[in-house]
Amino acid sequence: MKRRVTKAVFPVAGLGTRFLPATKSVPKEIMTLVDRPLIQYAIDEARAAGIKEFIFVTARGKSALEDYFDHAPELEATLRKAGKDDLLEALKTTNMESGAIAYIRQHKAMGLGHAVWCARRLIGNEAFAVILPDDVIAAEKPCLQQMVEAYEDTGGCMVAAMEVPVEKASSYGVLDIGEDMGHMVRARGMVEKPPVGTAPSNLAVIGRYILTPRVLQNLNQIKPSAGGELQLTDAIAEEITKGGDVFGYRFRGERFDCGSKAGFLQATVSFGLAREDLRDEFRLFLQEMLSVQQAAQ
Ligand code: G1P
Repeated sequence: MKRRVTKAVFPVAGLGTRFLPATKSVPKEIMTLVDRPLIQYAIDEARAAGIKEFIFVTARGKSALEDYFDHAPELEATLRKAGKDDLLEALKTTNMESGAIAYIRQHKAMGLGHAVWCARRLIGNEAFAVILPDDVIAAEKPCLQQMVEAYEDTGGCMVAAMEVPVEKASSYGVLDIGEDMGHMVRARGMVEKPPVGTAPSNLAVIGRYILTPRVLQNLNQIKPSAGGELQLTDAIAEEITKGGDVFGYRFRGERFDCGSKAGFLQATVSFGLAREDLRDEFRLFLQEMLSVQQAAQ
């Protein structure tokens, strides 16, 4: 039987303090790259990978996310009356089938591992995906889809992986590489935010995961680690200790760290340049700006 993944967890409870004051009243996942919020990119990627059930782990102050995925009958009627079919079409991507989306609250910010654990009853006893909307990945074939296809052969747990500069490794979960098959590695360990100089490699975990339900049990056993939080990385590493398979998948695509201001700006420029309707004007603007700056130096 083909291995399938139909549920995905979206941890969206974070306070987004790096983007204050914007995130005082707007969840960071609603912040926009060109004209789509970060969460829309994550949902589109999940859909492309065959996900049918979407589980949001939210927190206080995040109700804008629930509204975003609700129907908007008045708005739709107004657009229909005005004959704005293109906008109606754009709105369609925000519509969810009834019952396909669930929201559960993380009452205390106790880490990514704890956030995923909050969704345990909705996940049940099957493999599931986790998508961190901060990590936006531009790719011809969406990253989670690449992983789901690889997972059909491998089973086990799989995390998206990317080489990062050695000095940046301490900002990530890092893989200890057992066997390197090129597009994929088998991990023999994983460590969350290793202190500078101690990382087992420079292959970092990026925010896409396919996990076995056993990881949820492991989350019951692990203790807080990096930053005093319950880390998902530790629960996956525990899986290796128990003899399970854990793979790091070197995805094809460009990843933007939209949890940082610099990454968010880079993504904005890149997605702006990728848009046919904006490309020419935007490129010209950037070229002019750069040449003015160079002339001033
Ligand atoms: C989280 C994970 C980390 C991973 C990173 C990818 O960290 O805990 O293992 O490498 O996402 O973006 P965060 O960036 O939330 O601190």
